[in-house]
Amino acid sequence: MDAAAPSPPTGSPLFSRIRLAAPSDVPHIHKLIHQMAVFENLSHVCSTTESDLSANLFTSPPFQSFTIFILEVSPKPFPENSPHNSNPNYIPVVRILNSEHPVDDPDEEIFKSEDENVVVAGFALFFPNFPAYTGKPGLYMEAIFVRKCYRKKGFGKMLLSAVAKQAVKMNYCEVFWVVLNWNGNAIRFYEDMGAQILPERIIYRLTGDALQLHENDN
Ligand SMILES: CC(C)(COP(=O)(O)OP(=O)(O)OC[C@H]1O[C@@H](n2cnc3c(N)ncnc32)[C@H](O)[C@@H]1OP(=O)(O)O)[C@@H](O)C(=O)NCCC(=O)NCCS
Repeated sequence: MDAAAPSPPTGSPLFSRIRLAAPSDVPHIHKLIHQMAVFENLSHVCSTTESDLSANLFTSPPFQSFTIFILEVSPKPFPENSPHNSNPNYIPVVRILNSEHPVDDPDEEIFKSEDENVVVAGFALFFPNFPAYTGKPGLYMEAIFVRKCYRKKGFGKMLLSAVAKQAVKMNYCEVFWVVLNWNGNAIRFYEDMGAQILPERIIYRLTGDALQLHENDN
């Protein structure tokens, strides 16, 4: 036997794929964002609609502005003739997880993907930023989310690694993000991934009336 050959899947293989999102993914992205808002106890500020997403995403070529990686899983190999394989902007990342048991996915029906047997399991949303002190662009990751039944299996790592790999590929200097201070699971996950906390920074934003007040300022 060839020593370099990957061992065949045992138990319940779970094929996973990270690919670029397309406009047809909007209903799934919308549901993922709302699940993330529930997780973060922020449902009351989550007003995103499918129309908002359709109007504001996919308006620029991928990686130049708002970009989404979709994480999909399947009990069978992904079809070789999937249109996602021929996307000139991104070759999907495919991995096989050897899970002891099949995953019991309560939302399987509503997250069914276009390809047969494929289910959407998570996403990462990111776009370029420009850390002035480095003089080089970076990527700001606005969201990373793996649906509950698929967590702790390495999929979060796969998504964050895909974003980091894209930053390296574009010669960008960093991936930057913000995490809620009570989200210990995510914090441990990020620290395991080698990310550094920036304790000297706090976050601000102008929004609502405070944003409107500046309309006539020069
Ligand atoms: C944070 C999140 C994306 C991580 O995804 P995940 O698929 O669960 O993480 P992974 O399985 O890839 O974990 C990667 C590594 O972190 C470790 N890890 C994951 N969760 C951990 C935890 N709670 N405590 C300690 N280590 C943890 C794993 O052991 C793994 O290490 P290994 O590869 O050496 O075994 C996912 O939990 C999630 O979507 N959470 C809800 C939304 C959220 O918090 N998003 C982030 C907002 S900023």
